[in-house]
Amino acid sequence: MKPFLSNEQIQQMADHYGAPLFIVDCDQVRKQYLALQEALPGVDFFYAVKAFPNDAVISTLKGLGAGFDLATKGEVDQVQRHFVNPRETIHTHPIKKDSEIKAALRFGCTTFVVDNIAELEKFVKYRHRVGLLLRVSFRSETAKVDLSRKFGCSADKAMQLIHRAQQMGIHIKGLSFHVGSQSATPATHVQAIEACADIINKCPIPLNMLDIGGGFPVNYDGSTADIYDFCQPIREALKQIPKDVHIIAEPGRFIAAPSAMTISSVVGKAVRGNTTWYYLDDGVYGSYSGRLFDHAQYPIRTLKSGELKPCVLAGPTCDSIDVIEEEIMLPELEIGDLVIGEMMGAYTAATATDFNSLERAKIIEINIVAESGHLKIVG
Ligand SMILES: Cc1ncc(COP(=O)(O)O)c(C=O)c1O
Repeated sequence: MKPFLSNEQIQQMADHYGAPLFIVDCDQVRKQYLALQEALPGVDFFYAVKAFPNDAVISTLKGLGAGFDLATKGEVDQVQRHFVNPRETIHTHPIKKDSEIKAALRFGCTTFVVDNIAELEKFVKYRHRVGLLLRVSFRSETAKVDLSRKFGCSADKAMQLIHRAQQMGIHIKGLSFHVGSQSATPATHVQAIEACADIINKCPIPLNMLDIGGGFPVNYDGSTADIYDFCQPIREALKQIPKDVHIIAEPGRFIAAPSAMTISSVVGKAVRGNTTWYYLDDGVYGSYSGRLFDHAQYPIRTLKSGELKPCVLAGPTCDSIDVIEEEIMLPELEIGDLVIGEMMGAYTAATATDFNSLERAKIIEINIVAESGHLKIVG
């Protein structure tokens, strides 16, 4: 994917604001959202706010008519500040405190997710106000982050839970699944859709919503695999779902990841053994937190040219785990040189910490005006 800022623009940003920076381009958000819409026609999207809970991203997506997938009171509060219509939100955390349910209900969100009896019981007192999705688990060996280990009932328990809910007077209005984030292939999506079609067809009560979760991948390795092609078997599988079922999805990474780049600067340099270590002003406790939590490896480059040599890129904290990359090939760098991380919008700033009381990278929101390449600062 082509970087959304030229090297000259990156240098100007760093000169103007100082490093470390986290640059978000709302135009990329727009492009990703529209690409996914084209790849999955007839599916309504609820952006998974957790991926990158950024106001400019939320406002851009709201402008495009997106809904929002919420998991906590903090996320509820954030979309409420944007005057998002609560009917266009779903609360998808399968395990939640009563206070979380209350906060979402107070806002006006009425669609929640459950996957077990104890969670169903929490909704008995709210049964006249909610419609629930039953989350079914489909393990994926190819996803980078397998979410079906922690959440979801097995497909063969689904009918039993639907029946229990009915006895409790709780309305199960549909099914949901999440095959895991950054899926390598669409195979688990397809398997999950087929299994859900089977449950929907056999269920004695009407299930009229299917939430196919997230998991839509991005290209961290610079390859050009296309989301339309990735979704082709998913489009095919969705034909098995009865026409009156409302199909929704909760993409996070696909929308957020390509929308941000980081600009860090070299603050220290040392030769240890035969290897040069460069210390940056951002690291795995900051914007590169996804190296640990999300198992992501971001494309990293510099603005310099020259012979490439293996080196280590480390973060600014005192902890030895704060190493972004080992054996990365870069030209010789000097203190003050800039290091650019691409595809850094998802599960990065969202999971950054303040460890060592270091300031996080400053977030700058921009809107590239497509034809001219002209930059407009949003924030
Ligand atoms: C319930 C739920 N929905 C949606 C998402 C977003 O998934 P992705 O970023 O793979 O699109 C997640 C990610 O953790 C999730 O837990």
